Amino acid sequence: ITSPYAAAAAAAALKALPPSSTALTKKRTHNKEEQQQKRRERNRVLAKRTRLRKKFMFQSLQTQVSSLHMENERLKEIVIKRCGDRGPRILADCCRGGLSPVVASCTRQATALLQRSDFLLMKALQTSQPAFCVTDPTLADCPIVYASDGFIALTGYSRAQVLGRNCRFLQGPDTDPDAVGKLRRGIEAGRDTSVFLRNYNASGESFWNFVFVSPLRNAEGKVINYVGIQHPVDNPPAPDVLEIMMGDSDDIYDDADEDDAASM
Ligand SMILES: Cc1cc2nc3c(=O)[nH]c(=O)nc-3n(C[C@H](O)[C@H](O)[C@H](O)COP(=O)(O)O)c2cc1C
Repeated sequence: ITSPYAAAAAAAALKALPPSSTALTKKRTHNKEEQQQKRRERNRVLAKRTRLRKKFMFQSLQTQVSSLHMENERLKEIVIKRCGDRGPRILADCCRGGLSPVVASCTRQATALLQRSDFLLMKALQTSQPAFCVTDPTLADCPIVYASDGFIALTGYSRAQVLGRNCRFLQGPDTDPDAVGKLRRGIEAGRDTSVFLRNYNASGESFWNFVFVSPLRNAEGKVINYVGIQHPVDNPPAPDVLEIMMGDSDDIYDDADEDDAASM
């Protein structure tokens, strides 16, 4: 190309051409990397919230277990005082196969234990006796198929009254529909979900419930049960603490899903 006009025309023609396949591939790779980066960032935020929630849960459980231990020690003293020589024998009989100290004594160990497998999770739950239930999503309306003694004590219903029912019977006029919605979406998506909501016991008295629901999966990864831990609290944490603990994990998951769809 010799004349400046011809050179300008050639440059304009080049610009008008569709981008080469290498340029397109580069752009796609760049977009994909950006999306991956975004997803990683969201996962980091999510993981932080999950850690906070678990920490809160364990601290509450530890407080409960510690006070039970203290109560236990007081009762032992009474037995020793009142039963004299027979005291140690009675205590030895009572304490055979007693409580595992894991949850009470070491958070890190307890966390590792709970992460090892669903089976150990159930065992740890049974040992520490909180209120919890197991539901079966393969049955109509995901009814309760197991309720711990703690669940019965907390709700005031008999076992016969709770088995076969969906846990929503604990809700009432002051239950926040947004919290219920969050629980519903989490359960539908098969992910760990926790919310603070107002529930009602059999006498109609309301209480704050910190509910943690988690799917239990079989070897193929299919959800076969849900376990739900009900933890009564005097008051939900202050709004700013709640914000950090709960965030709006729905949004995070929803965006991540969109990203996944976009990157496919
Ligand atoms: C294992 C498990 C435990 C649950 N525990 C409670 C609970 O203690 N309190 C409550 O209000 N909802 C609880 N739920 C949530 C309700 O069962 C139900 O999923 C929720 O109300 C949303 O569904 P719905 O919109 O059809 O009512 C639990 C759910 C599951 C799967």
